[in-house]
Amino acid sequence: MEALLYQVNHSANIGMIIRTAVGFNISKLYFYDPKEILIKKQKQIRNVSQGTIDKIEIITITKPNNFLEKYKGRKIATICGDSKAIELKQFTPNKTDLVIFGNERGLPKEIIKLCETKINISLVNELNSLNLACAFSIIAYKYSN
Ligand SMILES: C[S@@+](CC[C@H](N)C(=O)[O-])C[C@H]1O[C@@H](n2cnc3c(N)ncnc32)[C@H](O)[C@@H]1O
Repeated sequence: MEALLYQVNHSANIGMIIRTAVGFNISKLYFYDPKEILIKKQKQIRNVSQGTIDKIEIITITKPNNFLEKYKGRKIATICGDSKAIELKQFTPNKTDLVIFGNERGLPKEIIKLCETKINISLVNELNSLNLACAFSIIAYKYSN
C-alpha cells in the first residue's frame, strides 16, 4: 500500500499518519499540499511523528489529477457514509494499491472519479466519519494482514 493525503490541514493528523505508516511498513506517502503545511508545520509534524518522519519516503505532488492518471496501481478512494462504496470488511487489498485520504471536507469529486474503487469504514450510532488519522490507521492495519 502507498497513500496519498489530499490537502490535509492539521499537523497533528499528519504526524500521527506518518508514525502509523512507519509502524505498518508503508514505504511511501504522497501529499498534495498546496498550503505547504509540511513546511510551515515541520516542527510539530516531526514531534507528533516521534521522529519516524526520517524512516519514510515523503513525496509532495503538485498536480494530483496528472499523478493519478499516471499511477500504475489501483486507486482507492476512502469515502465516508457512501452506500455505494465497498465496506472495508468486504474489501480485498492489493499490495500495489494507492489509498487516497481527504481532509475534513472529504475528497473532491474529480479525484474520486479517477479512482477504480471506493471504500468505507461503516460506523453506527449515526456517525459516518472518523478522524482522518484514525481512519488511516484502520485501513493501514487492513493492508498489513
Ligand atoms: C473527517 S473525514 C471527512 C469528513 C467529511 N465530512 C466527509 O463526509 O467526507 C476525513 C477523511 O478521513 C477518512 N475517513 C474518515 N471516516 C471514514 C470512513 N468512515 N470511511 C472511510 N474513510 C473515512 C477519509 O479519507 C476522509 O476524507
